[in-house]
Amino acid sequence: MSRYYSHIAGTGGYLPESVRTNDDIAQIVDTSNAWILERTGIRERRIAAPEETASSMGEIAARQAIEAAGWDPEEVDLIIMATSTPDRIFPSAACMLQQRLGIRSQCGAFDIQAACSGFVYSLSIADQFIRAGTSRRVLVVGSEINSRLVDWSDRATCILFGDGAGAIALEPSSEPGILSTHIHGDGRYQDLLYLPNPDAGIHGEFPYVKMQGNEVFKIAVNTLGRIVDETLMANGLDKSQVDWLVPHQANIRIIAATARKLGMSMERVVVTIEKQGNTSSASVPLALHEAIQDGRIRRGQVLLMEAFGGGFTWGSALIRY
Ligand code: UT7
Repeated sequence: MSRYYSHIAGTGGYLPESVRTNDDIAQIVDTSNAWILERTGIRERRIAAPEETASSMGEIAARQAIEAAGWDPEEVDLIIMATSTPDRIFPSAACMLQQRLGIRSQCGAFDIQAACSGFVYSLSIADQFIRAGTSRRVLVVGSEINSRLVDWSDRATCILFGDGAGAIALEPSSEPGILSTHIHGDGRYQDLLYLPNPDAGIHGEFPYVKMQGNEVFKIAVNTLGRIVDETLMANGLDKSQVDWLVPHQANIRIIAATARKLGMSMERVVVTIEKQGNTSSASVPLALHEAIQDGRIRRGQVLLMEAFGGGFTWGSALIRY
């Protein structure tokens, strides 16, 4: 039986035009550029225009990925969209993206909601479809409009998030490709980071992100350290064999702790947080796209992607690009 690996054939990324700096936020809440920069590594983030949605931003990123892969959109046979901010609760943003891309093949299309780990979860699912031989052209898209989910009077959360979209075109190859993916969840921590759903009638809270940042921070650092070990061990790889860390961008101090765990200098880490903030499930594909575009990441190199978010959820992917 022939064995397939998932190969990254193309990437894309999109950031809304409007920039909100730390100084802009300091006009709204009691904070400062110095505090935000020191504690998070963020200088500015992008804010979607009122008419933009997860699917409209995802379309721009997806079109780039399709073009880079040299596909005809009609060849796409599965769309997986990672988002916690879909245009509508249903139908899925993936179905809307399918329509926007003009794909009439009636390919499968669904959303994955795993908060900031959504992209790594989606990549893992896409990899299973390709390895099984079920799909041959899979679009994996992370797209988020976090700016509409934060309480702009809460300085503990509004400084962190930004909007954006990233996309990957995945196809089968006889050569690796994605070497392994790992996903985990632990619902015991659901109250440390969550978005209430007032329509569910459970909490009677406003629909804004709630986070106990300090607790999340500590658990994120420990958990990401563990998943790095798990990923390397599953592949019999030494940390010195990883060329690039492509992390979720929640806090520069969390990213630096994971890099330390890998014994990597920050030059080997793709960091976008300074200009993008935390774009949730868009952060990993945006970082990947940027580093491929500017020539840092080259074919044949080994990449470690990781993410951690509400749930808690966390995951990783080891990839020979
Ligand atoms: O992507 C999903 C996963 N999310 C994360 O991984 C986020 C993890 N958490 C974090 O990144 C950090 O916890 C934060 C950046 C959110 C906060 O940084 P921290 O160093 O953990 O600060 P803290 O929450 O312990 O607060 C320290 C102090 C407090 O004041 P007191 O009580 O010491 O007087 C806060 O009220 O900083 C205060 N503070 C602020 N001060 C100025 C909190 N937010 C701000 C702010 N500006 N924006």
